[in-house]
Amino acid sequence: MTANLQIPPLLPTYTPFPFPLLRGEGDRVFDPLGRDYFDFYGGHCVASTGHAHPHVAEAIAAQARELIFYSTAAELPIRSRAAQELLAFAGSGRDAGMCSVFFCNSGAEANENALKMACRVTGRHTFAAFQGGWHGRSTLALSVTDDPAITKPYEPLLAPCLRLPWNDVEALDAADFSDVAGVILEPIQSMSGIRPATAPFLRRLREKTRAAGALLIYDEVQTGIGRLGHPFAAGLHDVRPDVITSAKGLASGVPMGALLLAAEVAVSIKPGDLGSTFGGGPLACAALLATLQVIRQEGLLENVRRREQEIRGVLAGTCVTEVRGSGLLLGLVVPGRAKALKLHLQERRILVGGSGDPDVLRLMPPLNLGSAAVDALALALHSFSVGDVA
Ligand SMILES: Cc1ncc(COP(=O)(O)O)c(C=O)c1O
Repeated sequence: MTANLQIPPLLPTYTPFPFPLLRGEGDRVFDPLGRDYFDFYGGHCVASTGHAHPHVAEAIAAQARELIFYSTAAELPIRSRAAQELLAFAGSGRDAGMCSVFFCNSGAEANENALKMACRVTGRHTFAAFQGGWHGRSTLALSVTDDPAITKPYEPLLAPCLRLPWNDVEALDAADFSDVAGVILEPIQSMSGIRPATAPFLRRLREKTRAAGALLIYDEVQTGIGRLGHPFAAGLHDVRPDVITSAKGLASGVPMGALLLAAEVAVSIKPGDLGSTFGGGPLACAALLATLQVIRQEGLLENVRRREQEIRGVLAGTCVTEVRGSGLLLGLVVPGRAKALKLHLQERRILVGGSGDPDVLRLMPPLNLGSAAVDALALALHSFSVGDVA
């Protein structure tokens, strides 16, 4: 029955760019013809230190020559150092209030474990999450994700989740959290079109989760590791969650996820409660340590803040009617023309991300984005604004 179907060897699960990519350097990627593209997409918010950063590449190669892998059955100095340095990074600037780390391999795995941990700590089995939230494709992560296209086929298997409107303090006040194990949110919702949580909303949520004995989980898979010009969003508006989940740019593109835990949560986890064969493997730890070094040594948090201001500056007078988000997690609102603008930028060799909101494009470039990339973006946006491509 399937004999005549043309099924490619690599299952097509995503519509790719209309050109392949061969290599990357800093804030640019190159196709097989050697053409370069400014990468405001960052391989979906992953390329934190830019592409093929020499210090990160060398750290990975050096570690590979020493020990590519050993499981958590052995204590590895590099794994302990990675946990210490990640906590020190999270504690610099405004303190995120975290004291222990569990390593895994992806954002979904980090969220899955955070939600499981909420059940263990509270003895409850219901979650709360928000309209527009996106947390991954494993079963508990899907349970709290608001995206019927990917959740509906699995509904009978998903965990109960109270879904609340975003940034709605009144709805929060009216909600009953007495059965809720954990509440998960992205401090800036990304997929739904870059929608930051407001300060009153976060503060009320913190009060409410504390009063109800529910864990507050910040999904910082996109907002963490310097993307907002601060180590993490946790601590913003003086709100500290009980758990932070991280992935994406954590190890500059080597797969890695992490849970950062407040002391009250960490003390309740016993050996055997959590596990992951590859989590905290030496290669990923080497890449994480090198990533944190590059962020510090090259002043990337400052660079993020500087580039954000430059980008906001060059958008005046273009088709962009509003800029949402902060740092280098920005949403450009282009009513009715986001798709056309994405193509226009691509033709001018600038890669950006779409979103679940058809009016919003996303910028999530490397943290070491240069000003030449911003100049190129400005030029391309102005040419679109005067209407040379519809
Ligand atoms: C906010 C957020 N959480 C979780 C995930 C899932 O991460 P992963 O694809 O590494 O499982 C993503 C992925 O895009 C995300 O954006």
